[in-house]
Amino acid sequence: MGGASAQKPPPQKNLTPSKLSVSLRTGGLGRKSDLSEPQGLLITGGAGFIGANLLRAFPRLGPHIRALDDLSSGRVQDVEGLPVKLIVGDIRDRHLVDEAMTGVRQVISLAARTGVVQSVENPVEDMSVNVAGTLNLLEAAVRHGVERFVFASTGGAILGEVEPPFHEDLPPRPLSPYGAGKLAGEGYCSAFWGSYGLKTVPLRFSNVYGPFSYHKGSVIATFCRCLQSGRELIIYGDGEQTRDFLFVEDLCQAILRALEADLPFGRPIQLGTGRETSINALVALMRRLVGESRFPPVRYAPARPGEVRRSLVDIAKARRFLGFEPTTDLAAGLSKTWRWFQENQNPVFFLLSTLQVGVSRSSALWVGGEPGGNIYSRVFLDLLITRGAS
Ligand SMILES: NC(=O)c1ccc[n+]([C@@H]2O[C@H](COP(=O)([O-])OP(=O)(O)OC[C@H]3O[C@@H](n4cnc5c(N)ncnc54)[C@H](O)[C@@H]3O)[C@@H](O)[C@H]2O)c1
Repeated sequence: MGGASAQKPPPQKNLTPSKLSVSLRTGGLGRKSDLSEPQGLLITGGAGFIGANLLRAFPRLGPHIRALDDLSSGRVQDVEGLPVKLIVGDIRDRHLVDEAMTGVRQVISLAARTGVVQSVENPVEDMSVNVAGTLNLLEAAVRHGVERFVFASTGGAILGEVEPPFHEDLPPRPLSPYGAGKLAGEGYCSAFWGSYGLKTVPLRFSNVYGPFSYHKGSVIATFCRCLQSGRELIIYGDGEQTRDFLFVEDLCQAILRALEADLPFGRPIQLGTGRETSINALVALMRRLVGESRFPPVRYAPARPGEVRRSLVDIAKARRFLGFEPTTDLAAGLSKTWRWFQENQNPVFFLLSTLQVGVSRSSALWVGGEPGGNIYSRVFLDLLITRGAS
């Protein structure tokens, strides 16, 4: 690994340090004395699908690791029991982010609105969280002298309709506001390396799947929920569109390496498997896994706007700089994912998570003044945790 150490750091400038009030209002999970921990690591979106897996991938957990999440789609119970600090709040809240970033050496920025379809329906909300929220985090990272900032970006949605395999030098032409927002995030990562010397690492994830994805609108999670409930599987388009499905445990290994690796900062690195699978082939695999007798009907519906036709990632750069080598093939990853869904088939939880996906479009309206909140997360918020945000 290596090859990037010769890169010349840009001239560094500092953002004006803000006055910090160091009191984190995290209910039972936070202790004021932990806040000066110099080796702190902040994971925004830490209660989400990838965040819940990532926390479990760390060799050592402790109060030096903090998860900041507004619980708009993540769940408290997916991180409950882990010896980390959960801060409930919004990445757009400057004061809260300042508190959360105190004593932090590394940031992994996962918090985002993640729905392509939702971004088409509400591009302003998508921009507010994914662009303004990311900028807020980057500014705070500079103020607090953070050493490294790993940013969750995306592959296909940024590039648009291009001939695969995707690689980092292709010109980006996003087809959805979600892709445009992630591209803006990458732009700010480049700019903050260039202007302030913040070591940013934008990682472009392909289609990630795995445990803790009950709430996701991605195709594998959606199909797993259909299999659980016996509802029909809907394939948008002819089913010959392809995706590069990456098992979440493999992704987490790449994220951990990005925290320390010697690499060119501010520039994206694509993560995937280098294999493409059509949705029809995915359904065939799931049919084999679940068994013909339990498999619900499959229906084809019109293709959805903003979705790309083919997705296949060239991971040469990730191999070179992160030593990245995904080890889980799709059949094995699907088997682990399906097992997780079966083991977590709580009827009440299942009903709520289905409801959550259904109401996510209008959640900002429902809870006016509380960006990102929804009924589901507020129930748990009220029950389990005191609010961190002011
Ligand atoms: N899952 C994938 O296939 C995939 C692919 C490409 C990129 N990504 C990126 O990876 C990251 C994590 O995605 P995920 O799949 O775990 O999604 P997720 O929805 O499960 O996780 C996102 C988390 O961010 C939190 N969040 C949302 N808005 C917030 C805000 N304003 N303040 C604080 N927290 C907020 C949510 O509650 C949730 O826990 C996202 O940035 C996403 O865009 C994911």
